Amino acid sequence: MGDSEQCLENNMKLFSGSANRPLAVKVAKALKMKLSPVDIHIFPDGERRIQIPEKVVDEHCVVIQSASTPVDTNYMELFFIVDALKRSGAEFVTAVVPYFGYQRQDHVFRDGEAVSLEVMIKMLESVGVDKVISFDMHSIRIPDLFHIPVTHLSALPVFAQKIQDKFSDLSDTILVSPDDGGIARVKKLSELLGNMPYAVIGKNRDLVTGAITSEGIESGNVKGKKRALIIDDMISSGGTMIVAANTLKEQGIKEIYVFATHPVFSIDGPSKLQTSSIKKLFVTNTVFVPSDKMFGKLRQLSIADLIAAELKEL
Ligand code: R5P
Repeated sequence: MGDSEQCLENNMKLFSGSANRPLAVKVAKALKMKLSPVDIHIFPDGERRIQIPEKVVDEHCVVIQSASTPVDTNYMELFFIVDALKRSGAEFVTAVVPYFGYQRQDHVFRDGEAVSLEVMIKMLESVGVDKVISFDMHSIRIPDLFHIPVTHLSALPVFAQKIQDKFSDLSDTILVSPDDGGIARVKKLSELLGNMPYAVIGKNRDLVTGAITSEGIESGNVKGKKRALIIDDMISSGGTMIVAANTLKEQGIKEIYVFATHPVFSIDGPSKLQTSSIKKLFVTNTVFVPSDKMFGKLRQLSIADLIAAELKEL
């Protein structure tokens, strides 16, 4: 029996929101399935009306929607799609949210703040999502905040493969986490690459202005290395990467490459990264990068096969 027949036998239907349709198309192709239609009507005031034209009674429905910019609009669209599916009789809804927006506000940093991530989790659970699949969440503790099952996938195996294919000799190369928060991530990638050495940069972010400063190399030894590969979960303003790259340049590193899962790319991040000392940046397609945010040094690797493999197991 072929994969598509198996999925059909399991009564699985795939739906896409409008945040990252190219990724959903790739996932459907990998599963040899078709995307089921979602009618999205936008009223003149910006409100959305969602309708699911196909029958979904007793089916397992999978909705692929990244909570990327515009984050609130994309979340609302996801909530409405799930609500429409549940009202139409879907038995089980899996939300594939490759980039889970608001994940950086996962606790109260300063008195009086909202925990935005928990609000989004409550919303997803209350509209009836039964399971979530996401990638490289900001902290490995985030899945514990949900009351429904969460599959936390990682792009690190895709990065490890790319690194092995691209660089024939890794003896003069070091992996680098641009901050303390990325230690678990860089350790994992090091293991995937046969315990490659890694270093961690000390980073300070001003909680009011967002300005980033470096405290230099906090652990690990970059001395004598020619090449550094910086690993992170996301790039937004690009500030973290640029500060990390400058720190590594000061230490005599000649070639700097970046591997980051989510290309969030806010404000002038792309132009700052293009003119930085970074040689090339590898990101994934968890977030759709529009043409005005593409730049010469950027390469996108696909995580569609990882999603498809996970869906086959459901
Ligand atoms: C923060 O701890 C994250 O892991 C990223 O380093 C950060 O969100 C990247 O943001 P930006 O590109 O704005 O510095």
